[in-house]
Amino acid sequence: MNDSLLPVPSGALQIPAQPYFIDSVGQEPLKFSLVLPTYKESQNIQKIVQILSDLLDGYIPGQYELIVVDDNSPDLTWKVAQELLPDYPQLRVMRRQSEKGLSTAVVRGWQVARGEILGVIDADLQHPPEVLLQLLQEMERGADLALASRHVEGGGVSEWSAVRRFLSRGAQMLGLIILPEVIGRLSDPMSGYFMVRRSAMIGASLSPVGYKILIEVAARGKIRWIAEAGYVFREREAGESKVTWKQYIEYIQHLLRLRLSLWPVKRFFRFGVVGFSGVFVDMGVFYLLRTVLGFGLTRSTMFSAEVAIINNFLWNDFWTFGDVSRRQPGKRQRIKRLIKFNIICLAGIILQTLIVNLLFNVFGINEYIAKLMAIAIVTVWNFWVNLKLSWRVTDVQK
Ligand code: GDD
Ligand code: MN
Repeated sequence: MNDSLLPVPSGALQIPAQPYFIDSVGQEPLKFSLVLPTYKESQNIQKIVQILSDLLDGYIPGQYELIVVDDNSPDLTWKVAQELLPDYPQLRVMRRQSEKGLSTAVVRGWQVARGEILGVIDADLQHPPEVLLQLLQEMERGADLALASRHVEGGGVSEWSAVRRFLSRGAQMLGLIILPEVIGRLSDPMSGYFMVRRSAMIGASLSPVGYKILIEVAARGKIRWIAEAGYVFREREAGESKVTWKQYIEYIQHLLRLRLSLWPVKRFFRFGVVGFSGVFVDMGVFYLLRTVLGFGLTRSTMFSAEVAIINNFLWNDFWTFGDVSRRQPGKRQRIKRLIKFNIICLAGIILQTLIVNLLFNVFGINEYIAKLMAIAIVTVWNFWVNLKLSWRVTDVQK
């Protein structure tokens, strides 16, 4: 009779090509592994296991497994689940006693999973199980990631308070600003109900924070095709949500961490060095025009910035993005890049002039400090937009 608990993986949060501990978990590969992260779900666990078993026995009998990953719940959820083992051959239970947290629980479950498709669903019956079949059909059609979304047709939340709705939408907006290329692809980046193809995740080093495992998967996996299915987030029947302010803070930390790790740091460093050399050119010409020749503030700001732009373009084209420009040779291409770079930087000058005037006239900050702050802000803007438009790094990588 199998009532043994799963061994708990440790170390890097990476998804293996084969499950960890293959001997104790079972040999044969499966189609689908569904992780149920639990914390104080003793009143819900039997019901959700029963419902999921009935549903999946009817759809993919013998080709799936349910993996409960419990964080040593004080209400002994892991023990209740363990007692279910003899009745549910496709059930496996992991009791974590040191590591904690929803998103690492999901990854540890996936590390011992045998399925070609790895999924996660809440154990508190708030995620309607029947949507799994729609998601599995999308995966069979070739999707790399299939997510249950509250913000597509057929989606919604039951009696969520206006505050929680506002927070969820606000978090999404923030994500769109900080990590547009990831959050922009997901209609419900907060969803904790989705499945992903193992092959899309192999070798990806996940470093999830808090509750948001989905953005980690979408950011670090090789995800070409994302499918979505609407679902209505239900009210809990038992237990209570563990979402606190802490999860929102962790979410912001997570976005910033992903932003940094997804950013081409070396290029940004070079771009910064070039920008820094441009500051000397900019400030030197600004001093010449403003203090030596007595030109007006705005004209001096704009003209000195333009001279710096030309300086920066030449260096960036040769050094920062040299590998890209060398593959797009020719005067015409170069002129095109210079024009794009200039337009983006001109927009940056307007932004810079607005910021200088705002900081100087509204906040009374010294004009030179204002100018330096404006240059720093505009440098990030210039890098990001130039990366996406002028040197179009993605073209070269294809
Ligand atoms: N192992 C483990 N460790 N499980 C946890 C932990 C933890 O620290 N915290 C929560 N869980 C489990 C709960 O037992 C439940 O099964 C699931 O994770 C979701 O936790 P809730 O506390 O019920 O979260 P929620 O209902 O407010 O929000 C859920 O749904 C949202 C919409 O899909 C979460 O999944 C959110 O991440 C998700 O955005
Ligand atoms: Mn819940």
